[in-house]
Amino acid sequence: MSNKRLIIALDFKNIAEMSYFISNLDPKKCIVKVGLQLFIAEGPKVLDFLSQRDFEIFLDLKLHDIPNTVKKSVEEISQYNVKLTTIHLQGGQDMIQAANEAKGSTKILGVSLLTSLDESDIRKLYNNDFKKQFNNLINIAMETNIDGIVCSSQELELIQDPSLIKVVPGIRNQNSSDDQKRVMTSKEAYSKGADFIVVGRPITQAKDIEESIKDYS
Ligand code: C5P
Repeated sequence: MSNKRLIIALDFKNIAEMSYFISNLDPKKCIVKVGLQLFIAEGPKVLDFLSQRDFEIFLDLKLHDIPNTVKKSVEEISQYNVKLTTIHLQGGQDMIQAANEAKGSTKILGVSLLTSLDESDIRKLYNNDFKKQFNNLINIAMETNIDGIVCSSQELELIQDPSLIKVVPGIRNQNSSDDQKRVMTSKEAYSKGADFIVVGRPITQAKDIEESIKDYS
């Protein structure tokens, strides 16, 4: 992997909107993330479009299904020039292993608990406290040879294994009132050990994109 540590979430409607935005980006300075919206709208051609322009790609589809379906899906993903891709750790150990078997040179990241969920959401969903639920998921992941974890910066210190790649969304350098609940600034996230941070709207909707990239780099 390169030494870039900023991942920009390309949460756009289609390639036309996305390509206008990426004309402001230097592929040497950031990795780009393709999520559900853009992938559903455009399919794999978005991956070819970005790799032809020298961008490293994080394909964030957060797979969560039976092991065989996830294995076959990861096999397809690994045919493209995708550096990082995501599965939900909640799919369980067999599903994580199935993804690992099919990954080729793509690295697999396990999504722990979404940064849009807080303590009370976790209590309602799992009747468990946040930290315990998080630790359960990480312990399951550590019994596999998964490459990394997606978590909020507030949970970074709970991950003991230094070999796991730590990818952190929910980054806000300014106050915001959107759907992200467990947020932190980029500086704090890097200082707590994030290998990569994921930033979407604070950069894609910034008035001065170049300035905002500097702010989050
Ligand atoms: O716009 P914002 O900075 O909130 O974008 C964060 C991106 O990271 C979104 O594309 C979202 O899907 C993704 N993500 C997240 N929380 C996770 C995993 C991925 O916000 N746990």
